[in-house]
Amino acid sequence: MNPITTTNTLVFASSNANKIAEIKSLLPSNFQLLSSHDLGINEEIPETADTLEGNALMKAQYLFDKTSKSCFADDTGLEVMALNGRPGVFSARYAGPERSAQMNIEKLLHELDGVLDRRAQFRTAIAFVTEKGDAHVFEGKVEGLISTKWLGNAGFGYDPVFLPEGLSQSFAEMTLADKNARSHRARAFEAFIRFLETQKN
Ligand code: IMP
Repeated sequence: MNPITTTNTLVFASSNANKIAEIKSLLPSNFQLLSSHDLGINEEIPETADTLEGNALMKAQYLFDKTSKSCFADDTGLEVMALNGRPGVFSARYAGPERSAQMNIEKLLHELDGVLDRRAQFRTAIAFVTEKGDAHVFEGKVEGLISTKWLGNAGFGYDPVFLPEGLSQSFAEMTLADKNARSHRARAFEAFIRFLETQKN
């Protein structure tokens, strides 16, 4: 029998190894995580909606249509106050189609050069499509500041320039456990996991 029929197996729409590792560290041990990549789905999953929630739903639904299993997807945006919420839903392609984290950070630091208001937030939407095809969305966010320079090498994406509220350390200067204690994704996951726990018989 195919192991993905186990009720606690969840399929996640991503091929980002850093993100998959982070999500594995957030899920309780009674859930098995399979990535779309594990199931041989290697094409780029469409994310053309204009909101984080819309993109997360689009990705989870796409995967559900292919697998008929419980699937979830997340979409994250960095919303910078002085940029009126940009790059937001366009965070991955902020500096162009290459999706280069280094280029995105360089562009962000350049746009904020000399700007005193460094307030920003990360926001994550998680969309979950159950085995029955019902869709649910969960959200998490963390407020903070954009640093004036690159700080640390851990994590991924914009981590080296994001200082979570009240700390002078960037996400890229923390252990994964410390990032998980306060991150946007961890908070969205808490809501998602609470929901999963209520679904158990
Ligand atoms: P995605 O929705 O996960 O593809 O992320 C959109 C953009 O935000 C990409 O540029 C990611 O690198 C970035 N991003 C997502 N999550 C995080 C995070 O936890 N820390 C820093 N950057 C992130």
